[in-house]
Amino acid sequence: MSKIGIIGGSGLTELPGLEITDEIELDTPWGRPSASITVGKINNTEILFLPRHGNPHTIPPHKVNYRANLWALHKSNVSEIIAVNAVGGITTAMTPCRIVIPNQLIDYTHGRADSFHEEGLDEVKHIDFTDPYSESLRQQLIQAAAEKHIDIVPTGTYAVTQGPRLETTAEINRLEKDGCDIVGMTSMPEASLARELDIEYACCSLVVNWAAGKTDEMITMEIIVNNLKDGMGKIQNLIAAVMSNK
Ligand code: HPA
Repeated sequence: MSKIGIIGGSGLTELPGLEITDEIELDTPWGRPSASITVGKINNTEILFLPRHGNPHTIPPHKVNYRANLWALHKSNVSEIIAVNAVGGITTAMTPCRIVIPNQLIDYTHGRADSFHEEGLDEVKHIDFTDPYSESLRQQLIQAAAEKHIDIVPTGTYAVTQGPRLETTAEINRLEKDGCDIVGMTSMPEASLARELDIEYACCSLVVNWAAGKTDEMITMEIIVNNLKDGMGKIQNLIAAVMSNK
């Protein structure tokens, strides 16, 4: 039976419909993961669920121990990870409450521990990262969305910013010129760490606000939380649909 990891983002500290069978507390050579891993089943597929920001949600994006999280899932024999994240919408199709399955990213983060290949190596390692997201997992998400009539945007470039603050208008204009469609704070180094461990990794990104300068409204936590509430149900349905195709 294949094991699928779900890294829950803001608004997803639990996965409803998950028939819980175990809870694993893991320590790793890289430190402790954000929380214990909840093990369960959806439609006969084993799911390992890890809330990225802890449970309760207290770890900001730049303080997440991404290496410990990915290592813990790897040691639990996960072969695929669906990562859920909240993002801001930059280009016109990326309207609040839409789900995007990004196919590219640009990394604007700094100072994050972003590789397992650092010290004590027999040789220097460079992973291929031409396509940062798993095309096979992206297609599973896109197909499941079509079957369940869940509105998604099937491609997009994810700008990964350092946070925890949101961006300035000038920064968003620059990201747009760079070719980015959505902006969030968590897909790196998650995606490259997953690649280092040979885990198929794809994102389900929920647009929770217009990015800075794309609307006259201030970006408030109230707007973000309301859109998270509206959109998370769709994300849960999409994940359940992918599982039912396994
Ligand atoms: N910028 C960066 N990260 C985010 C945003 C945003 O506008 N919204 C949700 N996560």
